[in-house]
Amino acid sequence: MDHFLYRDGILHAEDVPVPDIAAAVGSPFYVYSTATLTRHFKLFDEGLDGVPHLVCYAMKANSNQAVLKVLEQLGAGVDVVSGGEYARAKAAGFSGDRIVFSGVGKTREEMRQVLEGGVRQINLESEPEMRLLSEVAASMGVTVPVTVRVNPDVDAKTHEKIATGKKENKFGIPIARAREVYAEVAALPGLDVVGIDVHIGSQLTDLQPFRDAYNLVVSLTEQLRAEGHDIRRLDLGGGLGIPYERSNAAPPLPTDYCEMVKEVVGPTGCEVEIEPGRLIAGNAGILVSGVIFVKSGEGRDFLILDSAMNDLIRPAMYGSHHDIVPVKEPVAGVEYAPYDIVGPICESGDTFAKQRQMPPVAPGDLVAFRSAGAYGAVMSSEYNTRPLIPEVLVHEDQFAVIRPRPSFDEIIARDKVPAWL
Ligand code: LLP
Repeated sequence: MDHFLYRDGILHAEDVPVPDIAAAVGSPFYVYSTATLTRHFKLFDEGLDGVPHLVCYAMKANSNQAVLKVLEQLGAGVDVVSGGEYARAKAAGFSGDRIVFSGVGKTREEMRQVLEGGVRQINLESEPEMRLLSEVAASMGVTVPVTVRVNPDVDAKTHEKIATGKKENKFGIPIARAREVYAEVAALPGLDVVGIDVHIGSQLTDLQPFRDAYNLVVSLTEQLRAEGHDIRRLDLGGGLGIPYERSNAAPPLPTDYCEMVKEVVGPTGCEVEIEPGRLIAGNAGILVSGVIFVKSGEGRDFLILDSAMNDLIRPAMYGSHHDIVPVKEPVAGVEYAPYDIVGPICESGDTFAKQRQMPPVAPGDLVAFRSAGAYGAVMSSEYNTRPLIPEVLVHEDQFAVIRPRPSFDEIIARDKVPAWL
């Protein structure tokens, strides 16, 4: 459930009519709902009641300071994957003991940064990384809590570009080698091995791959404990999918996921961490775009929007579906017709949807892409020198611009021309 509903024939974000925001900031823009972010976080947090846990929001999904602050104030932790994300999390008020640092290629500088600023744990993904972190921690005279990310070789049954738990993927160490790797890491100075980490992919629409991976982690917990490791924390990653197409069967709910987690890993007595990103932010955001032209082509009609693949790259990159709805509610009985919905960028890949059934729309009308709160703004670029689009946060009947649109002058001023030119 989200908080983008039609009221009096107009799409609202919570209690704010979407056209009011368009009048203030111009299209295109992203809008996020505080109520939806809150609801989704609480579904996980309350769903895990009964086991010690921390919901560590994967901020790669949406890292705007205002979004982070909403979650920080709810008591969330955060999963970061770069020095930049760590700095953003700190700036939003997350204390080090609520920040988990993941990622397959952490640099020496990033390690030093998080050790100085404080970190809940670092999830290690390879032996060279363990050795480097040990060296950095020991040189600073500190000991850092760590887990090792295991690769369980489980098929997440998702898009190949976002599956991470098969043996051919770059992530983690093969679970079959875990015992030998834990023996090595436990002996390294500066590292305190607290648990095991796993993350098998994103946009999973079935609980079974999670269940298979978590069962393997539970067996590994028993084996490692028998070998003397004090395994007391399990980081189960993120990955639960969201309903992108309202017409399709809905994926499992966070409450179902949490029940499964409690059933499978509860008996270990470990503290549980989960790292949901998409499920918290995805349906908490829409991308609102204006129609520039309706163009008749050879055998097909095009809706040319003022947003493009640089603003929302998911359709071009993964062939992803986003529901696209008019901001003005279609009247009952109106006839729908197929359109190719495209942006103004000079390549054919700049296509959001092909032959999508739409009610009649005209230049100047607004449309909204649903489920755009995760991996939307964060993956945008200024390709074609199209300024990054504004982000807006709604709270009940208020809205605020949480990232303004840069001017052309600001964009140009970032380039520096050498003196010899
Ligand atoms: N934890 C780790 C270690 C991850 O790599 C990821 C996502 C997450 C948590 C959060 O996963 P989520 O709950 O959001 O599924 N750009 C792609 C998604 C990439 C996900 C990468 N890792 C997309 O637009 O679909």
